[in-house]
Amino acid sequence: MSAPLRSHWSLDPQVIFLNHGSFGACPTAVLQHQSELRARLESEPVRFLAREVEPLLDDARAALGAFVGADADDLAFMPNATTGVNTVLRGLRFQPGDELITTNNEYNASKNALDVAAAAMGAKVVVAKLPWPVPSPEAVVDAVMAQVTPRTRLLLIDHITSQTALVMPVAELVRRLREQGVETLVDGAHGPGMVPLALRELGAAYYTGNCHKWLCAPKGAAFLYVRRDLQAGLKPLVVSHGHNSPRTDRSRFRLDFDWMGTHDPTPFLCIPTALRVIGGLVPGGWPEVMASNREKVLTARRRLDARLGNASPLYPDAMVGSMVCVALPEGYPERPAPPLYLDPLHVRLFEERHIEVPVTPWPKAPQRHLRLSAQLYNTPADYEALGDALEALLR
Ligand SMILES: Cc1ncc(COP(=O)(O)O)c(C=O)c1O
Repeated sequence: MSAPLRSHWSLDPQVIFLNHGSFGACPTAVLQHQSELRARLESEPVRFLAREVEPLLDDARAALGAFVGADADDLAFMPNATTGVNTVLRGLRFQPGDELITTNNEYNASKNALDVAAAAMGAKVVVAKLPWPVPSPEAVVDAVMAQVTPRTRLLLIDHITSQTALVMPVAELVRRLREQGVETLVDGAHGPGMVPLALRELGAAYYTGNCHKWLCAPKGAAFLYVRRDLQAGLKPLVVSHGHNSPRTDRSRFRLDFDWMGTHDPTPFLCIPTALRVIGGLVPGGWPEVMASNREKVLTARRRLDARLGNASPLYPDAMVGSMVCVALPEGYPERPAPPLYLDPLHVRLFEERHIEVPVTPWPKAPQRHLRLSAQLYNTPADYEALGDALEALLR
């Protein structure tokens, strides 16, 4: 992919940015549109927020629905995936002794939300331990299904895991669990824009996704999909005017979730812009964006595995989206296992080589890996620079 695409982002030219995964990065054209919307809002706040915003939200939801394969009526805007996960887990009612499954790869914040909800209702959290390295998607399905009992009520699973960057076999899990009467909450923080989505067909009870990561919308743009038959039972974390609105022209679900107090709706309103801008950067549109990002990290992984002397990748290509992990040799650092984001190698890569890439002890130190991201602005030279830096720093 040609370097000129980087000119669409305002990324620091001094930094080799290989961590789109953590917080995304928003193109300047999208930020420009957001500024215009904010100027319009502030020029007459009542006109904008009381009269104009509703059809704009409807348009944004329709564009998002078309992209993620869901009816717009089944989507609620969220500020982030963490709020989506909490909305579901704090809204559901469990009985003492109910079992809630997750995996040992689950995102820490989401696992915390599960622990708090379970503790409040006397439910039990069951953690399926996945093998590492991961031989196949089937190994994940087997590890999860082995934990199902007659008391199992819910699976909480990342669509794409954060620390290990695995594309999880969520379709197979949702299908198998539904056969046993168990619902699934998919934490798809990385899903939209990384992998094609068809939420209607997926059939998961709940799916929350970020638009500020791989869709490249401004920060604060996310959604929660709730399957139609479950909407009546779910309230937002913040109850507001929608609860007793006399309106009958839209569902209670939409009335409840569309207004959760005064906030800046411009991140949501920029979702169609982000879809258009990113999809317009390559001739093949979004399918090409996703495929080329994936091809880029797969190539980078092959190169780095070869340069680092790794005999085989940590998991099969079938589990790779726009991020991937590469094992690092043991023996560095000499210091005790550091907390996440403070790995000495991570710090040195940034401070000495100006490379932004996360290094994670996994499953625990001294085993470690780094997680590569690929977005349209990355070039093969970025990953070669990382390889050069690793060879020098690990020597
Ligand atoms: C799997 C997963 N879930 C949830 C989140 C949280 O996203 P946010 O901070 O936008 O809520 C992340 C962030 O990286 C993630 O990787």
